[in-house]
Amino acid sequence: MKTVHVDLAERSYDILIGQGLIADAAKHLAPHLHRPKVAIVTDDNVARLHAPQLQSALTQAGIAHDTLVLPAGEATKSWGPLTQTVEWLLDQKIERRDLVIALGGGVIGDLVGFAASILRRGVRFVQIPTSLLAQVDSSVGGKTGINTQHGKNLVGAFHQPVLVLADIDALGTLSNRDFLAGYGEVVKYGLLGNAAFFEWLEQFGPKLAAGDIDARTEAVRMSCQMKADIVARDETEQGDRALLNLGHTFCHALEKDTGYSDRLLHGEGVAIGCALAFELSARMGLCSQECPSRVREHLRAMGMKLDLSDISGPLSNAVDLVGLMAQDKKVIDGQLRFILARDIGDAFVTSDVSSDQVISVMQDALDRGANTVS
Ligand code: GLY
Repeated sequence: MKTVHVDLAERSYDILIGQGLIADAAKHLAPHLHRPKVAIVTDDNVARLHAPQLQSALTQAGIAHDTLVLPAGEATKSWGPLTQTVEWLLDQKIERRDLVIALGGGVIGDLVGFAASILRRGVRFVQIPTSLLAQVDSSVGGKTGINTQHGKNLVGAFHQPVLVLADIDALGTLSNRDFLAGYGEVVKYGLLGNAAFFEWLEQFGPKLAAGDIDARTEAVRMSCQMKADIVARDETEQGDRALLNLGHTFCHALEKDTGYSDRLLHGEGVAIGCALAFELSARMGLCSQECPSRVREHLRAMGMKLDLSDISGPLSNAVDLVGLMAQDKKVIDGQLRFILARDIGDAFVTSDVSSDQVISVMQDALDRGANTVS
């Protein structure tokens, strides 16, 4: 088992990464319990796959528990399920010093973390992420929240968990598509700040996708370590944390255009967005053309989506797609902020990008084969 420490003064916590962590959850939770009682919130897919193991571990250890099962899917990250979760936690008489457990992927982690942040003005919670995306990104760093009709993640809070248990065995139940979508966030870390990690992924990525436990553990550890270092420097995204949004400005426009449907999963959009961000960087003369080519080569070798033509169905035209970026949370004073790169592993934040250049990158990407509607 590996441990990554997130150093945030009194809000510091450990991320444990390894096999069998759900089965051993009681042992890891025990030091954080003030009384032997927890509340678990999960979704109906994860409830089937992983909740019984967690529940029986808790029962055996004499820890009382109740479980709320919400519908799986992005629609659960909204006001209705938030109210339901908060009221249910109050019904369970969860007190401020009790633990709420978020068992699931990014949707459950974000929703439950936010519910914990507002319940009794802040209840402690534990993340048990079961998807690769949640293990390497959303369960770490304390961003919690829900979507509204105005957009994704527009209502939320920074609320750090007290512990993260990233059980590598849970990744074994993911579909290949979900696994590779999570891998989009893993690649992002190499691209934004660690060329050696990207090289390691070029070498071990296929092994990791094929199920190699050691490679999976190492990829999750490295990703969490990089995220922990950035979050420790900039918890509330005043500066460096924005680097974690590499690929996300393009991704959000594509997700919006595809209606947040399963035409494009978030991590798939991140991977395509990283390729486009490197393309834009090369066009602007910030990095060599070799960089975007190498990014695309790796995504291709992994069997991932890398082009707009890999997204099924029609997309809007380039001008409209770039228009969709304007609603991004990263807009400051009406200026879009992009994460661009000087090299693989050397990203930076800038607003100094002309929309014409972004439109031309988008147009060329569309010309590579997607069906557009005018
Ligand atoms: N997912 C980006 C962040 O946590 O800042």
